[in-house]
Amino acid sequence: MLAKRPPMGWNSWNTFAENISEQLIFEMADAMVEKGYLAAGYEYLVIDDCWAKMERDENGRLAADPEKFPHGMKAVADYVHSKGLKFGMYSCAGIRTCAGYPSSYDHEFIDAQTFADWGVDFLKYDFCNFPAVGNCRARYHRMSMALKATGREILFSACNWGVEEPWKWMRAIGAHMYRSTGDIVDNYKSFKDIAISQIDNLCMSGPGSFNDPDMLIVGMYGKGHVGFGGCSDLEYRTHFALWCLFGVPLMMGGDIRSLTPQSEALLKNPALIAIDQDEECRAPYLVDSREDRYLFIRHLSGGEFVLAYFNFNDEPARSWRFSGCFDDIGLPYDCGYGLHLTDVFTGEDLGVKRDAFYPSIEPHGCQMYRARLEKI
Ligand code: GLA
Repeated sequence: MLAKRPPMGWNSWNTFAENISEQLIFEMADAMVEKGYLAAGYEYLVIDDCWAKMERDENGRLAADPEKFPHGMKAVADYVHSKGLKFGMYSCAGIRTCAGYPSSYDHEFIDAQTFADWGVDFLKYDFCNFPAVGNCRARYHRMSMALKATGREILFSACNWGVEEPWKWMRAIGAHMYRSTGDIVDNYKSFKDIAISQIDNLCMSGPGSFNDPDMLIVGMYGKGHVGFGGCSDLEYRTHFALWCLFGVPLMMGGDIRSLTPQSEALLKNPALIAIDQDEECRAPYLVDSREDRYLFIRHLSGGEFVLAYFNFNDEPARSWRFSGCFDDIGLPYDCGYGLHLTDVFTGEDLGVKRDAFYPSIEPHGCQMYRARLEKI
């Protein structure tokens, strides 16, 4: 089964856009292994838009840009596979890709076969230049069928930016992940707005098909193609914690050859990744939100939970006033149980809390705790 858990990997778009080449992809493959990202769970290396030659070949097939990829895509796939990684590529449901390259509308079956012949394991499928007469759902389903027809296991990463509420039908058409929003850019407002917009839709994620609120911007600091402003380390921590709490795909978008030690450690944080990848794949439950402050509880496997506090307000949150009261999270004062909390970021054991817990959270920051029920 593909995408039993939220897929993890790296994608070229956020940082490099059209500035991609065989050499760059080889270096990224090396970095994914040598710097321990593969060991941390990031297995897909995905080339986004701008890889193709502007015209199809004489057989009507997509072809790689010979200047960027002089040995063709099969050679790139072979190199990526030789590193123990899986190889992803990109096309689009419209007439041209977003950057204007040839695309798969009315070429679904021949293109799926080309990708399979090259050894592709993952296809991101975009939505630009889609004809007004086209049927969005039917076209995504057609590509899903075309991928199945190749006989190769190819993870289908549908990217229609939330058009026609994809959480209602992408699982049914066979997509393994589906973009639910417009493009992320590298600043606080962007990831915050994206995250808040998907809270109610996350419960449609589960093994085999996941809501995808777009790639990670951790470590970009305003550099690269979508580097509009950048974030502080605290904000990157909040961004990554949100994606892990949400149990969504983790596709890195920074230049992983040269991330800061903080960003590298964050992206490889085993406690956060374990939450993202929890086998029950449950969405977090929003207990309450007021004044841009959010409290979630997420049920994990093994009878555990995550308690997660996010402060999107620009003022520090010392007292949550509204929530953090255990009655609101299903534990009335006299139920005889408390929550034993462990700080996800520091590993600190906070002991058993009973009636309420109000951590102090910096503006734009968050706190997450693993929790288990304990008799008082
Ligand atoms: C769209 C997608 C992005 C990226 C670009 C490529 O904007 O949403 O993720 O793939 O196209 O052109």
